[in-house]
Amino acid sequence: MLENYQDRIRSPQLRSKVTTAAEAATWVHDGMTVGMSGFTRAGDVKIVPLALAERARHEQLKITLMTGASLGHDVDKALTEAGALARRMPFQSDPVLRAAINRGEVMYIDQHLSELVEMLRTRQIAPIDVAIIEAIAITETGAIIPSTSVGNSASFAILADKVIVEINLNQSLELEGLHDVFIPKLRPQREPIPLMTPHDRVGTTAIEIPLEKIVAIVITNEQDSASTILPADAETAAIAGHLVDFFQQEVAQGRLTNSLLPLQAGIGTIANAVMMGFVDSPFEHMTMYSEVLQDSTFDLFDAGKLDFASGSSITLSSKKSKQVFSDFSRYKDRLVLRPQEVSNHPEVIRRLGIIAINTALEADIYGNVNSTHVLGTHMMNGIGGSGDFARNAYLSVFATKSVAKGGKISSIVPMVTHVDHTEHDVDILVTEVGLADLRGLAPRERAQVIINQCVAEPYRSLLNEYVTEANQRGGHTPHILEKAFAWHSRYRDTGSMLPAIKNPDAEIQLTRLLSGQAESPETLGA
Ligand code: COA
Repeated sequence: MLENYQDRIRSPQLRSKVTTAAEAATWVHDGMTVGMSGFTRAGDVKIVPLALAERARHEQLKITLMTGASLGHDVDKALTEAGALARRMPFQSDPVLRAAINRGEVMYIDQHLSELVEMLRTRQIAPIDVAIIEAIAITETGAIIPSTSVGNSASFAILADKVIVEINLNQSLELEGLHDVFIPKLRPQREPIPLMTPHDRVGTTAIEIPLEKIVAIVITNEQDSASTILPADAETAAIAGHLVDFFQQEVAQGRLTNSLLPLQAGIGTIANAVMMGFVDSPFEHMTMYSEVLQDSTFDLFDAGKLDFASGSSITLSSKKSKQVFSDFSRYKDRLVLRPQEVSNHPEVIRRLGIIAINTALEADIYGNVNSTHVLGTHMMNGIGGSGDFARNAYLSVFATKSVAKGGKISSIVPMVTHVDHTEHDVDILVTEVGLADLRGLAPRERAQVIINQCVAEPYRSLLNEYVTEANQRGGHTPHILEKAFAWHSRYRDTGSMLPAIKNPDAEIQLTRLLSGQAESPETLGA
């Protein structure tokens, strides 16, 4: 049987380490810190974590789990349901884990994605005991060749005492050569990361660790979980349209060339749909320097718009995955996957002049953005890499639909209930209504532009009323503190941010806004 793995486990010495997932999982003990591969559902370990969950159902086993970003295969769900997670960092997007976090049962450290391994390396947080990494192969010298993500895998494997490798036969050997593993030196010997363009290669194609650290190898044969993004709709298409128009004006003004600057796009439906909007744009020879490469990256390649994409993972819908991996040689020369510490590194983002496009849950009239906390308290996913990019980008764009939950929530509010991105990190705010260019504007000016450009009625009138009253109170950034969160409180209490409707005109506008979307019209404005 082992002969089958010769191209996958190239060191004869390591072939004796092949074992079952259950056996491999016994290297993990209660109280340990475990680092697992996986970034936005790509390149995650698929069967050892489930064996760990199985053990945790029958014995005391609670771990701190670190990953690159979110996992697929319901791994977070299984570990949560088994009570195996004491702490989790730096990102997740699983509904079951999210609920446990919001019940206060799992301690979640929501962290900039570029920072976790830096904190590990400098021993600012508890060290990693065991790393569990998915690979397409292990080289003759024990170097691990990752699969569809690099994420934090390299530093986890380097810093852990013991390493378990899941060799996934389902992941194509054609991925070999795609990765560029660069590990910054410890300070004070730290040097600049020598990346001058998105396509520069500055590291190795595999994760080099002493062969003896690999204590177990498990063979799997499972696809990455498909991405969960939804197709573009009228609103996301409108958002993309506003952005394309804006970038055309920037080109016309001579501030950007027709290739723009390297693009970063956040996770989720909106960011993917916005990138799809570039397919029919006039821009050419574009590049990406991003973290997750979604379906839109490959659509842009196919449309001849994109020359090169650098990321930390490839996360695709099942249809796109079949198309891309059945003909991977067509794309391989135009792709590189890096550790998230490098894909998201402030130094590189600032040097390359990235155009960062991320998504807000809500933004306020001054341009502060909440990407993580529903009603200021309940975690959605996490900040992910959006902060790494937004603060350091040449242009920082935040996109959101102007309303959520069928119009019962306005995404533009008087004051955000949690701040992930301050007004200082937000240059452009865009909704399906329009685009607010906030560059060079003072808070009072920002409020007018955001309300006029990004908000539809009836929320536009309500925000204008708020701002008029706030301005009378004065201040550099005027607010009515006792009313700043009134919309959120009203949503919590009544299920809608809208006040009771007294004016018939507003009622007509509201009916239009909600037509076909409201779940229960009688609850609106209650
Ligand atoms: N209040 C409450 N819920 C809101 C909301 C608000 N202001 N705005 C949106 N939502 C809900 C939507 O209704 C939807 O809920 P559902 O899943 O029950 O339908 C959910 O949030 C997702 O919103 P959607 O409009 O589908 O956007 P998305 O898939 O593009 O995700 C974020 C948006 C903000 C959740 C997502 O981009 C994210 O987690 N971002 C933070 C991390 C990040 O930016 N990473 C980027 C670098 S990788």
